[in-house]
Amino acid sequence: MSAVLELNAAAPRHFLDLKDFSAPQLRAMLEDAARHKRTRRGAKKPLAGKTLALIFEKPSTRTRVSFEVAMRELGGDVIVLSARDTQIGRGETIADTARVLSRYVDGIMLRTDSAAKLHALAQHASIPIINGLTPCSHPCQIMADILTFEEHRGPIAGQTLAWLGDGNNVATSLIEAAARFGFTLRLGCPPAFAPSPEVLAWAREQGADVRVTADPATAVQGAACLLTDTWLSMADSADEALARAAALAPYQVTQALLAHAAPGAIFMHCLPAHRGEEVAAEVMDGPASVVFDEAENRLHAQKAILAWSLG
Ligand code: CP
Ligand code: NVA
Repeated sequence: MSAVLELNAAAPRHFLDLKDFSAPQLRAMLEDAARHKRTRRGAKKPLAGKTLALIFEKPSTRTRVSFEVAMRELGGDVIVLSARDTQIGRGETIADTARVLSRYVDGIMLRTDSAAKLHALAQHASIPIINGLTPCSHPCQIMADILTFEEHRGPIAGQTLAWLGDGNNVATSLIEAAARFGFTLRLGCPPAFAPSPEVLAWAREQGADVRVTADPATAVQGAACLLTDTWLSMADSADEALARAAALAPYQVTQALLAHAAPGAIFMHCLPAHRGEEVAAEVMDGPASVVFDEAENRLHAQKAILAWSLG
């Protein structure tokens, strides 16, 4: 899907990628997320009687728990499945799985090892599909990140954020967000681990100010927020670990690198983090770090996504 999502009463409201949405649609979801955060304990139950299936082909702590709690707090229920425990693991097609699950549940969140599987599920399901991470993107994470940034540093439009390290799935969704939320994005990445040229070209066509540099100090100049992520994602082969560590070591977020950013810059990481690899312990555990607010905000952001998709 490349065009902005047109609302069609008959079509399921999939949440697949940030680029599928207009800026006002995403802004409305964020405002709803902030409202869910403020009213958490006294919240209404807009998803009473609804069931969400959570399907995991890859491990998860935050995504699993935050979606499960979000559904329960919105009055709904969840079924958690690991793909290997289902017939998908024995070769049942995604299309048939989509058709069958559409008869039982009201929505599906999928974490998968293949973006093509997510898109096949969305194509064949008559219920909303939510992207819980693919090797290509992680949009729920970035909705939580924007919420977190704005809580600490005010409106994100016009501000500068810097990504350090691997131009991976999380970086891709951040690039899409730069286009939709109007912030400047600098990515400090070695050429071998630069973000996909397609997403960079798309963002620039949308008018986004997104630039990649191989120099980490240049990337963070004037940034109000530094972000990074693991050097070895779940979709990457463990055989690559040593080569990745060697190429990415200069991009570690250290106190010295943070000193090149704007005064009062914050640090974000989607987690799980590896202290001493992509981030120094003194940054991860220091005063600039807002990583646990960021993790909490998965819950609030996903309530807004669930309410939009299933409500
Ligand atoms: N950030 C994130 O998606 O964490 P999990 O892999 O624990 O779900
Ligand atoms: N880039 C990481 C994100 C984990 C939440 C991965 O895909 O493993």
